[in-house]
Amino acid sequence: MSLTTQELLTLIGTHAANLVEDGMVVGLGTGSTAAAMVDALGARAQDGLRVTGVATSIFTQQQAESYGIRVVDLADVDRLDLCIDGADEIDPALNLVKGRGGALLFEKLVARQADHYVIIAAADKLVDRLGVRMPLPVEIVPIGWNHTAARISDLGLQPTLRMDGDEMYLTDGRHAIVDCTWPEEGLDPVQLAHDLKAITGVVDHGLFIGMADVAVTVDKDGVISERRS
Ligand code: A5P
Repeated sequence: MSLTTQELLTLIGTHAANLVEDGMVVGLGTGSTAAAMVDALGARAQDGLRVTGVATSIFTQQQAESYGIRVVDLADVDRLDLCIDGADEIDPALNLVKGRGGALLFEKLVARQADHYVIIAAADKLVDRLGVRMPLPVEIVPIGWNHTAARISDLGLQPTLRMDGDEMYLTDGRHAIVDCTWPEEGLDPVQLAHDLKAITGVVDHGLFIGMADVAVTVDKDGVISERRS
């Protein structure tokens, strides 16, 4: 009998939570996979594990605190031992697309300060090249968003403003997001990451280049595998 999505999330979340050692400062990702890890870490904290969390979203902060995990601001720590987060796409070099859940900026800020960055995901997030599974989220300032989107189009992407009902979707940092479809022939992610950051109005983007140390994936039968950069 095949495992349910929730059972698979629990498997990978528990595996990742077990990487955390007593006394560690840990970056807590956002999304359904990271949430399963926070659930498992919360159970360990309630059993006596001492852990300090740095959350990548308000949602994750509240989830961690509900288990009694101490959560501190990123500005209050010099470094983290580990950051554990999900991803939307993982290429063979462990470059990532992230941000479907809208937390990409805080996720990147937290991951940058971590000694080890562990990605956890269902195996279907593994791709030959980035841009095939979903659009690339790009976080932009709301003011003049359409002009910023036009500059992003000039790079060959097709941006669509993310909405929340009838309103512009806003991130925890009060920015907008445009979800950008890639052209069929693809774009070089390293160059694209550089070009996006050079656009006035772009705050950051969901390309996480050269950041992940390891990707831990779970397939539909519950088999866990690791890829290292
Ligand atoms: C949040 O902004 C994202 O980067 C998530 O980490 C990513 O979308 C993976 O989410 P799931 O674990 O829900 O697939």
